[in-house]
Amino acid sequence: MSSSTPPQCLVRGSINIDEFFHLPHIVRPGETISSSKLSRGAGGKGANQANAVARAGGNVVMDGCIGEDGIWVRDGLERAGVDVGRVMVVQEQMTGRAIIQLAEDGENSIVLHKGANYHTPPSDTSPSLSGITHLLLQNEIPLPSTLAYLRAAHSGGVTSIFNPSPMLSGEKLRQFPWACLSWLIVNEGELTDLLKETGLAVPSTTGSAPASAPTTTPEAPIASAARAEMLLFRRSNADLGLICTLGARGILYLPAGSQTVGYLPAATVVNGVVDTTGAGDCFAGYFAAGLMRDEDLETTLRTCLTACAMCVEKAGAMESVPSRAKVEARIA
Ligand code: ADP
Ligand code: NA
Repeated sequence: MSSSTPPQCLVRGSINIDEFFHLPHIVRPGETISSSKLSRGAGGKGANQANAVARAGGNVVMDGCIGEDGIWVRDGLERAGVDVGRVMVVQEQMTGRAIIQLAEDGENSIVLHKGANYHTPPSDTSPSLSGITHLLLQNEIPLPSTLAYLRAAHSGGVTSIFNPSPMLSGEKLRQFPWACLSWLIVNEGELTDLLKETGLAVPSTTGSAPASAPTTTPEAPIASAARAEMLLFRRSNADLGLICTLGARGILYLPAGSQTVGYLPAATVVNGVVDTTGAGDCFAGYFAAGLMRDEDLETTLRTCLTACAMCVEKAGAMESVPSRAKVEARIA
């Protein structure tokens, strides 16, 4: 890739319509209840992350499929600064949909319909990444499409970032071409699943204490199990950058080639946590935009953490992602 190529990120992923039904309780089998409020929003991890790249100031192209019912979602992405030239409207398909029941006690329950997200255009067989420097992937579209984009990125020298949510399982995980990937972003649960499924044993930390155990032990490192898992995964994937997000505790990170797991705490949440929906997507989008600026890794990660703290201070998946200017102002 020529160093004069301006950075451009492509997100190949899902686009959804999220419908929130506000209910006294989650509907029971055979029961009919009325919702007190129905609200609608744009969603899907692909669209959320594309929106976050744009908010973070990165040039970003969304590549995904919707039905005619989702044109407003595409238009919203475009207003957010996302290039939607590769969003395909598939006739006679419905846009992916999440039907979310929100109960008064805070419980929720979700029905997901993949819809047009599982349409595979012929171009998915050998995707064009001309002009693209960074590729951002999730796991809400057919895996063969994700893999075709990843392989194209690898052979074209494009930096790739994969946030496999929901986590792959079984054979799909064991056969995943990790060597094609630049960065993997997972949370703790996903990391544990990854290690289990790939057959890498995690040393048990729950043994009896050694006889010489001091009476005052130094403070245990944060997320020690996740650290051990990252180092184990490192053994078979030397050139893969790893990030594990830890919710309110922040992140662990292990750059390609390194044997030292770094930790950064979450940034301070100013007015209390309102809604953590979309925090992971905010992180992934800001991370891609940081890589595109080719700045020091820790600077990028700190920017991501501040963006995420601001994201959880507000409701919603897309609207709550702060602009880079606001993040910079908070850091300053
Ligand atoms: P995911 O939703 O993908 O599991 P996380 O919950 O780990 O992702 O959140 C991603 C990032 O968002 C975290 O690394 C952290 O920086 C921030 N974050 C999430 N929840 C909180 C919280 N309750 N307080 C502060 N920061 C948070
Ligand atoms: Na939010």
